[in-house]
Amino acid sequence: MEKKIEEAYLRAQNFTANDLKELEQFRIDYLGKKGIITSLFNDFKSIPAAEKKKTGKLLNELKVYVQEKILENAEGLTKQSDYSTSFDLTLPANHLITGSRHPISMVRKEIIDIFSRIGFTISEGPEIEDDWHVFSALNFPEEHPARDMQDTFFISKNPDILLRTHTSSVQVRVMENNNPPIRTISPGRVFRNEAISARSHCIFHQIEGLYVDTEVSFADLKQTLEYFAKELFGVDTKIRLRPSFFPFTEPSGEMDVLCSCKGTGCRLCKYTGWLEVLGCGMVDPNVLTDCGIDPNKYTGFAFGLGIERIALLKYNIKDIRLYFENDVRFLNQFSSIV
Ligand code: PHE
Repeated sequence: MEKKIEEAYLRAQNFTANDLKELEQFRIDYLGKKGIITSLFNDFKSIPAAEKKKTGKLLNELKVYVQEKILENAEGLTKQSDYSTSFDLTLPANHLITGSRHPISMVRKEIIDIFSRIGFTISEGPEIEDDWHVFSALNFPEEHPARDMQDTFFISKNPDILLRTHTSSVQVRVMENNNPPIRTISPGRVFRNEAISARSHCIFHQIEGLYVDTEVSFADLKQTLEYFAKELFGVDTKIRLRPSFFPFTEPSGEMDVLCSCKGTGCRLCKYTGWLEVLGCGMVDPNVLTDCGIDPNKYTGFAFGLGIERIALLKYNIKDIRLYFENDVRFLNQFSSIV
């Protein structure tokens, strides 16, 4: 009998309930009408009187141990299932250190959202390109300085494989592979062999815009850019278009936005009152032809902007190198802007 008690004791010791159901089963197994302890007490009646004292003591100890075990387990399980009584909800939470979006990613997303709202899709192209997509199809003459080793990172010469110097290469790919109407923007990284300074870097980001359809006019371009500037910089923003030159657009222009000094002149706008924001123009008919689109049937406009520069203006950042250093003291300043 003593052996039986000891076995029951050991089993009880090894038991822990995972839930209240298991605990109830344990209770029934030990203390129920047909339980181990009940049956041991029945056996107890028929043991020799000389053994009764010792065995009775052991049996009672087992019963108390099991009862305590049940109480202890029940307490643990209710604590787990009832947070409101076991936790102090008024305690302050641990401070979570969260990351933040990089300012370039934020501005990129904002610009994409603005153009998505008026039906522009997003297209992407490779960063490693050939001469055709970056220069030739875009009407760059053979001797154009942008093709020079000083501006372009060449990976190989003959065939010319290079890092794209602008995202205009994506407009060529889109026109080659799609029929008008085309309305798309192409965000991406571009590379130029330039000395790194506060105002320029050898890697930066652009967003190219392209709209090709029948009867697309310069007025459509101007309207689209004005909408864009007001969405990005606020409804009071004014824009100005100046004539410019790009081999792949004719006529070409550059868009300025009125500086936050409202034209009175400050260091940011170098006392001109205006800030240059993007290049644009009507797609040159030669480019349409190169890309397999009939220039007698279709016209188009294109524009291209630098994301770093827009972010510089939007957040009053003084040095383009800060974007690439990823110093957390710089990045943390953008954590409250979503
Ligand atoms: N690709 C030009 C640049 O990198 C920008 C541009 C794009 C100008 C489209 C006109 C039209 O400077």
